[in-house]
Amino acid sequence: MTKTSSFSAPRGVPDYLPPTSAEFVAVRDGLVRTARLAGYGHIELPIFEETALFARGVGESTDVVSKEMWTFADRNGESFTLRPEGTAGVMRAVIEHNLDRGQLPVKLCYAGPFFRYERPQKGRYRQLQQVGVEAIGIDDPALDAEVIAVADTGFRTLGLSDYRLEITSLGDDSCRPQYRELLQDFLFKLPLDEETRRRAEINPLRVLDDKRAEVQEMTADAPLMIDHLSESAKAHFDQVLGFLDGMGMSYVVNPRMVRGLDYYTKTTFEFVHDGLGAQSGIGGGGRYDGLMAQLGGQPLSGIGFGIGVDRTVLALEAEGKTAVDRPRIDVFGVPLGDLAKQHLVPLAAQLRAAGIRTDLAYGGRGMKGAMKAADKSGARFALVLGDREVTEGQIGLKNLSNGEQRSIPLDEAVAQVAAALAGE
Ligand code: HAM
Repeated sequence: MTKTSSFSAPRGVPDYLPPTSAEFVAVRDGLVRTARLAGYGHIELPIFEETALFARGVGESTDVVSKEMWTFADRNGESFTLRPEGTAGVMRAVIEHNLDRGQLPVKLCYAGPFFRYERPQKGRYRQLQQVGVEAIGIDDPALDAEVIAVADTGFRTLGLSDYRLEITSLGDDSCRPQYRELLQDFLFKLPLDEETRRRAEINPLRVLDDKRAEVQEMTADAPLMIDHLSESAKAHFDQVLGFLDGMGMSYVVNPRMVRGLDYYTKTTFEFVHDGLGAQSGIGGGGRYDGLMAQLGGQPLSGIGFGIGVDRTVLALEAEGKTAVDRPRIDVFGVPLGDLAKQHLVPLAAQLRAAGIRTDLAYGGRGMKGAMKAADKSGARFALVLGDREVTEGQIGLKNLSNGEQRSIPLDEAVAQVAAALAGE
C-alpha cells in the first residue's frame, strides 16, 4: 500500500522559518561576533565523531553518554556518534593538529547543531544549536572571567536582561576526591531509595541536584564542595569572582549547581533565564583541566562555554525583544505590466550587485497586492514602474514609511536608491 500521509520533522527537532529564522541567525551570529571581539578563531568541527571520544571525554556515567547519544555503526561496523556537545571534539582536533604546541591559550569558537536523545519539550530539543568557545592551555582566573564576560556581553548585546549568572567551584584533584568521600559518607546514612543510592555511588554530586522536596530536605545539611576547596582551588575561585566584580558583573554563588558533563573542574557556571520555565539554562560552561590528558594529549587546562541558541531565541521572545536590527529587504520593486518587468528584473540584479537588498513583486500582481507585499517585506523604499514610465525613462521611488513618492531617471536608479538609503 502506498503511504500518502505527509512527512514531518523528526520528533524534538525544530524548524526555523521566517520570521523566527531571522532571530535565530541574529542570535547565532551576534554571539559569534562577541567571541571574535575577544580573539576567538573559528573552528568547524565534524558533526559526528568516534563514539569512544564522547564516552571518555564527557563521561560514561552522565545522562548525555549513557542515555542520550545518537550512536550508529558505519558500513564497516565502526561506532560513531552525532556530537552531543562541542568540547570533546575541539580537544580532539587541538591534539590531532598540534595546536597545543603553538601559542597559548588556543582560543576557538564554534557554532552549529548538537544531538541529544532527550524527552522533547519547550526549549529541550533532540537537535539543539549552540555557540561555544574554548580557551585552552592557560590556567589563569582572568581567562575564566573573560570567558564568562564574553557570554554575558553576547546576551546583553542581543538585548537580553532577565537572566542571572550562577557560579561555583567544583574543586580539583587535590580536594574533590576527599570531598566526594565526605559527601558519600553523609548520603549513605540517609534513607535513600535504591536508584538514588546508586546515583550516590556513581556521582554523589548529582544527588544534591535532585529536585524532589524530600531529597532536598534530607540533603539540606550535606557538605558542599565550596566549603572544602583546597587552598589553590579556593584562591583561583576568589580571583575569578574578583575579576567579575571588577567588570561590574553580578552573579549568584550556587554551591549546589550540578552540570551534566563529567569533565568540569574548578570554575563552573550557568546562565539562567527567568522566562523559560523548566528549561531555563541558556548557557553554561566551566573549566576542564583534566580533559586533554584524559583524551591522550598533554596535561593542559581549558575553559569554555556553550550557549543554547534555541533557548536564547525563546528568552528574547519571552522578554518581548528582537535581535534583528533591520528588515530582510531594503527595496521592493513593483512592476506594473510586462514592459516594466523587463526593466525591473535587470534593475533588481544591478541593485543587488551594488549591495542593496532587493526583492520584486512576482506573478503579475496588481498595484494593491504588490504594494501590500512591499509593506510586508519591511523595505524602506518601493520602486514602482509602469509601462508609461518606461517610455519616459522614469521610475517612481516611494518612501514606504511616509508614503512620499517622486520620479527619478531610470538609468540613475541604482545611485539614487543608494543615496536615498544613505539618507541623503
Ligand atoms: P551544556 O550545559 O550541556 O554544556 O549545554 C550548553 C547549553 O546548550 C545549555 O545551557 C542549553 O542552553 C543548551 N542545551 C543543552 N541541551 C539542550 C537541548 N536538549 N535543547 C536545547 N538546548 C539545549 C555543554 O554542552 C558544554 N560543552 C559547554 C562547555 C563548553 N563547557 C566548557 N566548554
